[in-house]
Amino acid sequence: MSITVRVPAKVNVQLAVGPARPDGFHDLANVFLAVSLYDEVTATPADTLRITCTGPDADQVPLDRTNLAARAAELLAARHGIAPDVHLHIAKDIPVAGGMAGGSADGAGALLACDALWGTGSSRDDLLDICAELGSDVPFSLVGGAALGTGRGERLTPLPVGGTFHWVFAVADGGLSTPAVYKEFDRLTPDAQAPAASRPLLEALRTGDAAALAGALSNDLQPAALSLRPSLADTLAAGTRAGALAGLVSGSGPTTAFLAEDAAAAERIAAALRASGTCRAARTATSPAPGATPTTP
Ligand code: C5P
Repeated sequence: MSITVRVPAKVNVQLAVGPARPDGFHDLANVFLAVSLYDEVTATPADTLRITCTGPDADQVPLDRTNLAARAAELLAARHGIAPDVHLHIAKDIPVAGGMAGGSADGAGALLACDALWGTGSSRDDLLDICAELGSDVPFSLVGGAALGTGRGERLTPLPVGGTFHWVFAVADGGLSTPAVYKEFDRLTPDAQAPAASRPLLEALRTGDAAALAGALSNDLQPAALSLRPSLADTLAAGTRAGALAGLVSGSGPTTAFLAEDAAAAERIAAALRASGTCRAARTATSPAPGATPTTP
């Protein structure tokens, strides 16, 4: 018997970052929106914990116990006093180290799949606790939709979304290290203020107004990502020239996200980005998307 769980990527439509805390993390006002690019995690009984991965970026995915999917299995097993013996296969479609929470998605997917496979019957709150232990973005991968993340991003308040938004994601060559981007943020922003969610942005989400959302998009990590990867400015310019309502770096980057007026505009912008030579690939997707969902009965 196997259990497969499908988990979405995310884009941060607002990422407001405060000063570094004593524990090294940053307080955030982090507005997450799940998008329709998915990884699938399949859990199958095995003699020992083993990870395999397929997909265009599979060679960049660690297959050891640093993989969040492996850590999820270990944390769940430890809570129930059982051995984390499982084969986890990741069918990876989310860009790796791209600022789209692909690693977090695999952690949330593995957790849900193992809980079903092992019959450990965790409550939603237990699952969210383990997710928060795995990483700041992992709880959102479990719940999906749209949510405001506070604290280090792990404390979630669901948000209403009144329509479908159309996105284009430009995938860069190579990844960016999230800790390195936060460190660069600290260097560039010695006077960082306490973060707060933007009211116009929440209103644009609630009403499903793409033009209003475009005007309210913001990412405090963008100057840091551009400082570490100056070529992203060319990608942002190419997407805007191609007719995007707005563009921004997704999370800590280096993926860039472009909001389009409708599905046809998204396809045109993706084609123009591919032709521009400023990115490795361009993908279209919509939001909101559901959180981690079993695809096997
Ligand atoms: O929580 P997660 O393991 O995803 O965080 C990865 C790194 O990103 C942290 O080690 C930290 O350097 C940085 N981070 C941060 N503040 C946050 C979230 C992440 O400084 N709120």
